[in-house]
Amino acid sequence: MESQGINGNFTQANVEALVVAIFKNESIKDPALKELDGLTGGQISAALKSEEIKGEAGETAMFRISSANGVKANRVLVVGAGERDKYKAADVAVASGTAARYLRKCNVKSFAILSRSNGEAIETVQNAVQGAITSQFELDKYKTKDKNDKAITKVVVCIDGAKGSDIKAGIARGRAIGDSMNFTRDLANEPPNILHPTEMANRAQKMAKETGLKCEILDEAKMRKMGMGSLLSVSQGSEQPGRMIVLRYTPEKPSKKKGELLALVGKAITFDTGGISLKPGENMDAMKYDMSGGATVLGAMRAIALLKPSVPVLGVVAAAENMPDGRASRPSDIVTAMNGKTIEILNTDAEGRLVLADAVAYAEKEGATTIVDMATLTGAVIIALGDQNTGILGNDQNLVDQLIASAKEAGEGFWQLPVSPEYSKQIKSDIADIKNIGPRMKAGTIMGAVFIQEFIDKAKWAHLDIAGTAWADAAQPHQAKGPTGVAIRSLLKFIERSE
Ligand code: BES
Ligand code: ZN
Ligand code: ZN
Repeated sequence: MESQGINGNFTQANVEALVVAIFKNESIKDPALKELDGLTGGQISAALKSEEIKGEAGETAMFRISSANGVKANRVLVVGAGERDKYKAADVAVASGTAARYLRKCNVKSFAILSRSNGEAIETVQNAVQGAITSQFELDKYKTKDKNDKAITKVVVCIDGAKGSDIKAGIARGRAIGDSMNFTRDLANEPPNILHPTEMANRAQKMAKETGLKCEILDEAKMRKMGMGSLLSVSQGSEQPGRMIVLRYTPEKPSKKKGELLALVGKAITFDTGGISLKPGENMDAMKYDMSGGATVLGAMRAIALLKPSVPVLGVVAAAENMPDGRASRPSDIVTAMNGKTIEILNTDAEGRLVLADAVAYAEKEGATTIVDMATLTGAVIIALGDQNTGILGNDQNLVDQLIASAKEAGEGFWQLPVSPEYSKQIKSDIADIKNIGPRMKAGTIMGAVFIQEFIDKAKWAHLDIAGTAWADAAQPHQAKGPTGVAIRSLLKFIERSE
């Protein structure tokens, strides 16, 4: 998709459709709206008057411009933007995405958007471009027929009076973030026969080469040498060997904060059958997305490589397939993780925490002082928070607060659940140091988090349970059904704030 920015002359843009956001209870006073209303022969004001459109978020209404008006575009698309004082930069991505999906259906290939955000130009342009790019993602990669063959090929973002350099920077950022989110979504959408740990490592290597990240792949022999008995206990039941993917971003001009290292750590179970604690067959196919935490780390690292923040970032992805097999681990097996702790495996379906145990310990050994791990870790988080909020837990309230604030700015929801020594007591084992499950049906998401916490030594740590938010069961006006690319924008905001 070609992206451009202009700082005036909205109606003169060389596109097929002009898109404008409209607020709730708005009457046509804004000069740009007035001009568009004139171009449509008063159809916009008539539609507002008759309440055909009310400015509610997600609404769309299309109007024709007659060629007699001398503008290149022949359509105006009005997109509802909700209440004016609640409209933020992140909402521009939704408006732009909604427009792009609507127009694509109408076989329109190019549009210019007047987002009407009061925010900074860079942010507005970035969000408009990212929203247009992420709106075009579809699940149909493997279809040979009935595939979506329409595409938006050009988006023009209009901001009155913006500096050219800001527009340029906003476009570059929007592209980097949008493409990286789609990179993550493509990985999450891959079937598990294609995307096994080795293939995930190959894709990471290719991406690293393209973007200039350092990439190291730890195979099983290397992991065994390093004592990663917890991760290896998961991969041992599969024909597919496990992999630890390690990516390193080093800034050219580092900020003054010496010795600090942020690590992003992700769970990548390329398929989760539950292992010997086998899951029921119904909906088991959904477990191909159990590598979404790892895919999020890869997408975030891709964006980081392109955006070049002034802080170093380490990315660690723990990849394994969880299968039942003659060699698979059994409930009651005891394994030793890299930090020396012994784990009694009481449920082989609680495997995400087992691979993350070694991954967070590895990140800290590599010098991480702040660790954010992300995982489709528990069904319990879906029961608690549904698909609107990612569960966040951690050992440092300031870190958790920063992440929640970053998510809010990025237009995503993070909601905190507690961790405390009382909860940690509930995963003490009778015969090993800890067990991998807590009491039945109690605080499942917290149990997962306090387990991971056992493998953090001194680092500040936060855990994101994205089981409910990484996959959308239904399409939205701005986004296809399927993998969402959640948390990438929040993590990038967090990094921006910590520079
Ligand atoms: N990958 C699942 C978590 C999951 C479940 C994600 C449903 C998305 C939808 C994880 O490995 C798992 O199976 N967790 C168990 C933990 C339990 C055995 C303590 C769960 O949530 O039931
Ligand atoms: Zn599981
Ligand atoms: Zn899992």
